[in-house]
Amino acid sequence: MPPELSPIDKAKFVAAKRAAQMVESGMRVGLGTGSTAAWLVRCLGEMVRQDGLHITGVPTSTRTAELAREVGIEVTTLDDAKWLDLTIDGADEFDGRLNLIKGGGGALLQEKIVATASDQMVVIADAGKEVETLGAFPLPIEVIPFGWQTTKALVEETLVSMDVLGRDSTLRRDGDAPFRTDEGNYIIDLHLKRIGNAQHLALAMNQLPGVVENGLFIDICDRVIVGYGDGRVEMR
Ligand code: 5RP
Repeated sequence: MPPELSPIDKAKFVAAKRAAQMVESGMRVGLGTGSTAAWLVRCLGEMVRQDGLHITGVPTSTRTAELAREVGIEVTTLDDAKWLDLTIDGADEFDGRLNLIKGGGGALLQEKIVATASDQMVVIADAGKEVETLGAFPLPIEVIPFGWQTTKALVEETLVSMDVLGRDSTLRRDGDAPFRTDEGNYIIDLHLKRIGNAQHLALAMNQLPGVVENGLFIDICDRVIVGYGDGRVEMR
């Protein structure tokens, strides 16, 4: 264990370490994005260097691709790999059905494509990410820049028509400019507080012109590995 980790980093690290033990030589592995997924990539890098683990990683962002190369993991594209044995990624929230909110780091689109192209998706998370009902974390909606204000208005109208509680939506920013995803898109964060019917909302959002993808991962995750600040790990 790296020395002097804060309890939250320790929780992320132990979850990542446990997930890394599920990875076997020869596997094609989807590599998630975010601080928890970064611990996983570092753990896998150590296994590659020290134990001779041989895997092909498919990163879900340029950030993860850079880190994976840095720690010695061979990386390729999803189109080259075609199908993956396992994807391991973080999440912003998960509920009792293992449905997720993702995209806090802005990589939801590649993350969803990669997770969907995998035999198994395993989420690694600190215990603070577990919720009874999704929605306290702002739900990211990736939209194309063209006409984004019109798309935002359409998203808000749809929330009203669906009787969703909070309807406040904000364009994600990166300093003075709009935040850009790896695909050059924008993100609109929806401050909903509580999402009653996540599946319904996910479908409704993706039907709107201008919307590329939403951060709800419904029936995609197979298992969650939960880490605690005292070093405990639990499976969901
Ligand atoms: C990035 C994500 C991340 O997995 C999510 O934001 C969790 O990040 P962290 O592990 O840093 O808490 O969905 O798009």
